[in-house]
Formats: sequence, structure tokens, C-alpha cells
Amino acid sequence: MKPDLNKPDLVSPDLMKPDLMKPVLGIETSCDETGVALLRWEPDAPGRGLLAHTLYSQIKLHADYGGVVPELASRDHVRKLVPLIRQALAEAGLTVQDLGGVAYTAGPGLVGALLVGASAGRALAWALGVPAIGVHHMEGHLLAPLLEDDPPEPPFVALLVSGGHSMLVEVKAIGQYTILGDTLDDAAGEAFDKTAKMMGLPYPGGPMLAKLAEDGRAGAFRFSRPMTDRPGLDFSFSGLKTQVLLAWQQSDKSDQTRADIARAFEEAIVDTLIIKCRRALQASGAQRLVIAGGVGANRRLRSELATAGAKDGFKVYFPRLDFCTDNGAMIALAGAIRLASGQHQDDSVQVYPRWDLQSLPAA
Ligand code: KG4
Ligand code: ZN
Repeated sequence: MKPDLNKPDLVSPDLMKPDLMKPVLGIETSCDETGVALLRWEPDAPGRGLLAHTLYSQIKLHADYGGVVPELASRDHVRKLVPLIRQALAEAGLTVQDLGGVAYTAGPGLVGALLVGASAGRALAWALGVPAIGVHHMEGHLLAPLLEDDPPEPPFVALLVSGGHSMLVEVKAIGQYTILGDTLDDAAGEAFDKTAKMMGLPYPGGPMLAKLAEDGRAGAFRFSRPMTDRPGLDFSFSGLKTQVLLAWQQSDKSDQTRADIARAFEEAIVDTLIIKCRRALQASGAQRLVIAGGVGANRRLRSELATAGAKDGFKVYFPRLDFCTDNGAMIALAGAIRLASGQHQDDSVQVYPRWDLQSLPAA
């Protein structure tokens, strides 16, 4: 079920517009990172008015299990969220009474984890008598490059590559999203994580595998660029994973071989993403490309896209590395933009583990 972003606030119907001079609290708890940020929305200010951001990563908590354990993630968000809110407020020199609104990730994500941020955010907004809004996690990622200097102006194409998504999105305006291509199986980040695990790397595999790839030798292995030999903008990475598994099983399993395979795998993913980005730009006629989501932190992807852009004449926008992976700043930003346009939700705590980005209203 879609949330109704235009529903009037049941408790404070007079609060249709938040006090825009006051900062918005952003809360991210959709997976294994607790992120909190404060932002006073100013479209023309550096960083769009970001005042403070704090993050706690649960990597150590899940490492023994080789992946995220949802129940442990939820419990840890419960422990960390309030201290992080306190820390962010202290960094910005503010108190809760200074807040003008609250934004929290309402989906997609792990249901228990989402409920922690949604419940805390909702309760705080209710107690303060300020509006609150549930933010779509992928809209947060997509808007993260707006936190940088020289932010992208719509229309643009966005490549959203995270642990759960590999999508090409046409952005006509903030809130007007058309999915041009999606993954048919594993997301790009998921492929990184699973491949890393297969080769015995500890969780979180993606960044580890990327690090290892730096020591790999060019041309030692080569894997296919899935679904690039036919038209279309969808992705499929599970076959690539199988190719890597076979290569690894048949190899001498030395450290150098592992690095060589990691490099060839990374090259295959990066090439595939770039081929599809070029196609999407052509199909939409856009000249701006936004990269967001955890895999956007990948150095090879960043440098090769910058080269492709310089060659083809499109401009590439990335968030800083910290804002590629999950964070509270992107949620504060997306929420502040929607609150500023008068959107907010009633007092019920609702989360959406699955949520179609295209169903969002214009901001
Ligand atoms: O956006 P994100 O923090 O969380 C989700 O919303 O999923 O993305 C996490 C994903 C993980 O799959 C992780 O392995 C991948 O992003 N990732 C990377 C790198 N840093 C994070 N993948 C490749 N290279 C990296 N440097
Ligand atoms: Zn994410």
C-alpha cells in the first residue's frame, strides 16, 4: 500500500506548512546504518543548509553472521538512535525545541528497522507539534548529490546502485520519476557482496572486494558484460556471479588470483553500468547523469564515468563518498523539500518495506 503523502495531519491541521526557518531532523534506519542529520532547507545555500550529520554503522554487529541479521539491526537502531539525535543536535548547537519538522525513512527496507526510525520520528514530531514525513529511501539516495556544491538541476538521469537496487531513473522534476531500467535479479551491490562472500571475504564484501581489485592485474581474467548485447536498460548480475564462482573454484585460490578475479568482476560491473547509463542518456535526451547509492562509492565506477562523460559530453554528479552509502543527510534533505512544499502525513506509524519510487507525488 502506498502512503498518502497529501493526507492532512490529524492532530495539528493548522500546521499544513512547517516553519521553514526551522531545521528538519532526518532519520535513516532502513538497514544496517543509523543515520541522523539536521538541515535547514535553503536551496541556494552551500550544502542546501545541512547543519550536522551523524552515523553509526552496524558492520561489527553483523560481521560474525556474514550479512545483516534483521532482528539485531532493529535492536541496535533502538539503542543508537536517541544518542545520535542528541549528538547531531549538540553539533548544530540546537535543542529539540528548535525543530520545524521530522523526516524518517518509511521504506523500502527491513520492516523492523524501518519501524524504529518511523516510531521515534513520529513520536518526536507529535510531542513537538511539528509535521513529519516518511521519506522513500531511494529518493533520498537520488537527491543526495544535491548536498554538494554545483548540484544537478532536473531533468537528469539517475543511476541508483545500492545493496537492494540497480535502477536507471529519468528525473523530470523532483518527485517525477520514471524507471527506465531495473535489475532482473541481483542488485549491483548485492552482486558485489555475494561475490566477495564466495571468495571468502568478510562482510561487508562490496567495499572489501573493491579494495582487493586494486591489486588485481589487468587482463588476467575477463567476465561477460551481462545483457549489453541486446537493446534495453535492465540489468542482470546473477549470471556474472556464477561465472566468478566457477573461475574461483577452478583457480589456485592464491591471494593474487583472488585480486585478479576481483578486478575482472569489478570491470565487468562497471562497464555494464556505463554502457546502460550511456543508453539511458541517449533515450531520454538528458545531458546530466546522477550516480547514487552505496556502489556509487566505487572508485573505478566514479573515474570511468567521469572519463565517459568528458568524452560523450554529459556531466556526472556524485555525492561525496559518505553520502553514497546510507546516511541521515539525504533523508533530511528529501524530507525537507517535501515538507517545504506542504506535504506531510498523519500520526499513524506506517512503513513500506516495498515501495514503488514512481508512485511518489511531485514535490
Ligand atoms: O546504499 P547502501 O549503503 O545501502 C542500501 O541501500 O543497500 O549500499 C550498500 C551497498 C552494499 O551492497 C555494498 O557492498 C555496496 O553498496 N558498496 C560498494 C562499495 N561501497 C559500498 N560496492 C562497490 N564498491 C564500493 N566501494
Ligand atoms: Zn541505501
